[in-house]
Amino acid sequence: MRLIVTDSYEQSAYLSAQMILGVIKDKADALLGLATGTTPVAVYRYMVEAAQQKKADFGKVRTINLDEYIGLDGEDPNSYLHFMRKHLLDPCQIPLERVMIPNGMADVQEELQRMNLFADANPSDVQLLSVGVNGHIGFNEPSDVFYDRFHAVKLAQKTRESNSRLFPSIEEVPAEAITMGAGGIMRAKKIVVVVSGSDKAEILKKVVDGPITPQVPASVLQLHPDVTIVADEAAAA
Ligand code: GLP
Repeated sequence: MRLIVTDSYEQSAYLSAQMILGVIKDKADALLGLATGTTPVAVYRYMVEAAQQKKADFGKVRTINLDEYIGLDGEDPNSYLHFMRKHLLDPCQIPLERVMIPNGMADVQEELQRMNLFADANPSDVQLLSVGVNGHIGFNEPSDVFYDRFHAVKLAQKTRESNSRLFPSIEEVPAEAITMGAGGIMRAKKIVVVVSGSDKAEILKKVVDGPITPQVPASVLQLHPDVTIVADEAAAA
């Protein structure tokens, strides 16, 4: 595990974007594993900037997302598809034919099969991650076991509370989601984790320094051969 401590979130985001852009430079049709939440927003802003300034070519890039809420349509402003289109896909002109993201409205079992069929055959060239306040990655919540492949999960109360800031009220935060498993995340060739803010400091210590346990899902990253954690001073405190 490599830990880079930066002065600010902006610096973390810039650096992380450069790492992902480096992967695209080496492989035009790279498969990018993407994440949602507040943390990746500026990473995507720097990637879009590079595309618009013709410093990066997204013409063949493919993407796969970690997760999606069950019950939200892709048009819903809180769906992760909507988030991805707004922050990266549309401005970089990546068509949906090159995008894999669980469909929150489809039959769950069929959707898991569709995602797993693709993910099993296509490990991501780089996976962008942020870490939830309870240590979750994607929607792999604290649990007694690590999950390997895409699966359906019941969201932890802490996650629903934390994510309710983006919804009109907590009642409207979906109770379930589809997520890539920890195994799928670990199959990415390279992993970039952005962690920002003082509210992530306690969990970050457990992630990098604590026992590897499914109770802190991100702790599994300690076993990956190419992980870079980019944390601002507040998170690294
Ligand atoms: C959501 C996503 C996670 C993400 C988490 C943290 O729950 N499913 O993949 O890590 O949010 O988000 P934030 O960056 O807003 O703290």
